[in-house]
Amino acid sequence: ADTLLILGIETSCDETAAAVVARDSDGRGRILADVVFSQLDLHAAFGGVVPEIAARSHLTVIDQLIAEALARSQVRLADIDGIAVTSGPGLIGGLMVGLMTAKALAMATSKPMLAINHLEGHALTARLTDAVAFPYLLLLVSGGHTQLILVKGVGDYERWGTTIDDALGEAFDKTAKLLGLPYPGGPAVEAAAKAGDPQRFRLPIPLRGTPTPDFSFSGLKTALRQAAEREAPLSEATIADLCAGFQLAVTKSLADRVQIALRAFAYRFGTGAHPALVVAGGVAANQAIRATLLELAGTHGFRFIAPPLALCTDNAAMIAWAGAERMAAGFPADALDVAPRARWP
Ligand code: KG4
Ligand code: ZN
Repeated sequence: ADTLLILGIETSCDETAAAVVARDSDGRGRILADVVFSQLDLHAAFGGVVPEIAARSHLTVIDQLIAEALARSQVRLADIDGIAVTSGPGLIGGLMVGLMTAKALAMATSKPMLAINHLEGHALTARLTDAVAFPYLLLLVSGGHTQLILVKGVGDYERWGTTIDDALGEAFDKTAKLLGLPYPGGPAVEAAAKAGDPQRFRLPIPLRGTPTPDFSFSGLKTALRQAAEREAPLSEATIADLCAGFQLAVTKSLADRVQIALRAFAYRFGTGAHPALVVAGGVAANQAIRATLLELAGTHGFRFIAPPLALCTDNAAMIAWAGAERMAAGFPADALDVAPRARWP
């Protein structure tokens, strides 16, 4: 068939998701169904994801979600060309639920199974939404990852930068917790920052001026904690100012770090083809960060591409799409004894 139809399954963290995606022979992608069950409510009381609760919840809803995705896509399981599933990195209990489900489906239908690296899903999403051509630069900013990646082709990546301590989403979440704001912290900090004065607290800009495009957020978090302790008890206005100061330091650090990678990219490939800076991951929902990256990209002759928010956060369409891209590129299906991997760079 010239159009590939792929069923995708994602259970690596606190989102259970199933999707059906089509990839035409010209490389165009279409999402036929994309269903996500967020466990946010189950974990909110604990201020973070509880792995055991996550795994049990995945198990409870996964069959239903897959049936729902197939029904909405109006594609019969018999007409699916492959089953793509996240097999790492992530929480091992959740990964096992998705992977075992995919194996059972693959075995029962004799269809190929594709074990997908969750990060590859994030990395290739821009080709589904915006048909972005290789090579491009990806900034992946989520609760678990903060990386700058050169995407050269399907399965062909160079990691240019990573965080030496906390992930950016994690830094937002910890900041929120410290200031008594709800989980997940990113949206709460962003909302509070809107009313704040970013200049009142001069927080350090992590790694500014260092030569490699790496990231660090734990020093900033410490500086914020010390400022908060000095001001205790915190008024609503002070919380807003702290959030605004934190967000300003974050955007300045991102701009400084990403700029290094844009220059390196331009040096290696030129900018004549109008290359793309792509952002992905939950933190890409942040409007201040988006605005900063948009401006930075423009200054350096890059297009800025931010997939729709629902495709920035965890979903199964990106996993199905990565499976479709791998299949189209000629990668073989995975053996049914493939194991889940909690860590998988
Ligand atoms: O990609 P994602 O949904 O899950 C993974 O970590 O894989 O990212 C979730 C992270 C959380 O840390 C959350 O606080 C952060 O993304 N986040 C935000 C915003 N919305 C979500 N961070 C900053 N600003 C936001 N508006
Ligand atoms: Zn993710």
